[in-house]
Amino acid sequence: MSTNGEDNKASPSVSPGGSPSVSPGKVRTFTQFAAQWAQAAPERSLVEHPQLGAGPLAQSITVEGKQLPNRFAIHPMEGWDGTEQGAPSEWTLRRWEHFGRSGAALIWGGEAFAVVPEGRANPRQLCRHPQTDNAATLAKLRAAVLKGRAQAGFTDQPFLLGLQLTHSGRFSVPLPGAPAPKPAQRNPLLEQRYPHHATAALISDAELEDLIGAYAATAKLAWNAGFDFVDLKACHGYLVHDLLGAHTRSGPFGGSFNNRTRFLRMLVEAVRAECMGLGIGVRLSAFDCVPHEADPATGIGRPMQHELPWRHSFGVNQQHPERADFSEPRELVRALERMDVRLWNVSAGSPYWCPHVQRPATFPPSDGYLPPRDPLCEVAALFAAAEAVRSAATGITVVSTGATYLQEWLPHVVEAEIARGATDFVGLGRMVLSDPDYPRRLLQENRIDRRLLCRTFSECTSAPRAGLISGCYPLDPDYKNLQGP
Ligand SMILES: Cc1cc2nc3c(=O)[nH]c(=O)nc-3n(C[C@H](O)[C@H](O)[C@H](O)COP(=O)(O)O)c2cc1C
Ligand code: SF4
Repeated sequence: MSTNGEDNKASPSVSPGGSPSVSPGKVRTFTQFAAQWAQAAPERSLVEHPQLGAGPLAQSITVEGKQLPNRFAIHPMEGWDGTEQGAPSEWTLRRWEHFGRSGAALIWGGEAFAVVPEGRANPRQLCRHPQTDNAATLAKLRAAVLKGRAQAGFTDQPFLLGLQLTHSGRFSVPLPGAPAPKPAQRNPLLEQRYPHHATAALISDAELEDLIGAYAATAKLAWNAGFDFVDLKACHGYLVHDLLGAHTRSGPFGGSFNNRTRFLRMLVEAVRAECMGLGIGVRLSAFDCVPHEADPATGIGRPMQHELPWRHSFGVNQQHPERADFSEPRELVRALERMDVRLWNVSAGSPYWCPHVQRPATFPPSDGYLPPRDPLCEVAALFAAAEAVRSAATGITVVSTGATYLQEWLPHVVEAEIARGATDFVGLGRMVLSDPDYPRRLLQENRIDRRLLCRTFSECTSAPRAGLISGCYPLDPDYKNLQGP
């Protein structure tokens, strides 16, 4: 386990040109960072002197009828620390309290909450469970956020709170050591990597239809508990995302764009019917790539050998799956806008098959590989995806992903992104695991605390792979004392 700051580790990534790239945490001058950003992200920009609490991050914005005071969103992040019956533990509540304490105006989802126990991605995931007082679970989660906000003096400021609804599909592991995958399509590379996916039956059309009621019932619980919206999670390889890429599935939920998006549209209709007035958002993997593996000679990530056309993903060019194709994601945004869905959180890929895309990092998770190119390229790709979604329709609100990797240079880049209209909110994931006060400090005190910046060590991702609860082992004092991964 590593714990002593970024300087103690070698930066293993490479720039697009193949020369070694420098982690932003080691870049000391604006000129040097600007040169690296220009190489990784020639179409994007940055500002030299961020305005912090007086700049774009502090601009108010009206969303779902509330005037929100800032442009920070907290991304959903689970901790593998719920009870066997899907209720929160003290660790879970502490994390939600931190999300509240951050002062971010938008808390997007909290963490993935499974609509049925068998759809959990791990046996400690929160879920709607027949042996739990589910209303009490949701009331506790919301109360933890309010407690954190009260502690930090935000009681009187408006904010939006959502709950992320999920079914883990092919990555369902509801009981310890007992994966119970429900793939939506046959995917040759994932079946090669996970042989139990190959032997699992595809989730049937009838099973999908049965699940719709579970989504609506969970949304109703959230609505009754005072949540402002639910996120119909459509990212990272889980059920809805798997369906979006199910070009080879037959029947009403596969093949054409209309069929692949049918389940998501049915979820929207069902939630609407059950909870008029509850906001609906979608966290979307807006582009993807073929699963990656470590090159045995170098440890650097590379695409697994794949067939062409590649017909198992959403938002990629089938002949050149290394290239994003935003035409279908944009069409989806417009289709759902017609159904009054206006909240989008734009992510990409999956932590299972392309962590370098989903969670740009200097240091790979235990089951990952060294970054195939400068991770700043992945940050830029995530901002480009947010922009592609945001420009697809008027009247929608977009949250971007992947900013944590920027470290010291985060304000320089994200202020430029908001100013050019690429995104409305800057979503923070790992940064608030290492420093829950990051948004508040930046907005109120016009500073960041370098000692607490996430250095993308990936231990929060590796911990669950080793059966441990997740958190920031290197920098969060309460986790520091635990035996980490
Ligand atoms: C420990 C951990 C748990 C996560 N859990 C979720 C989750 O429950 N739902 C989700 O959509 N994304 C989840 N993510 C992904 C994050 O929301 C986010 O997309 C990712 O960390 C990249 O953002 P960042 O660069 O700001 O960290 C998780 C990430 C981490 C590190
Ligand atoms: S938040 Fe996660 S990636 Fe960041 S320093 Fe902590 S353990 Fe590492």
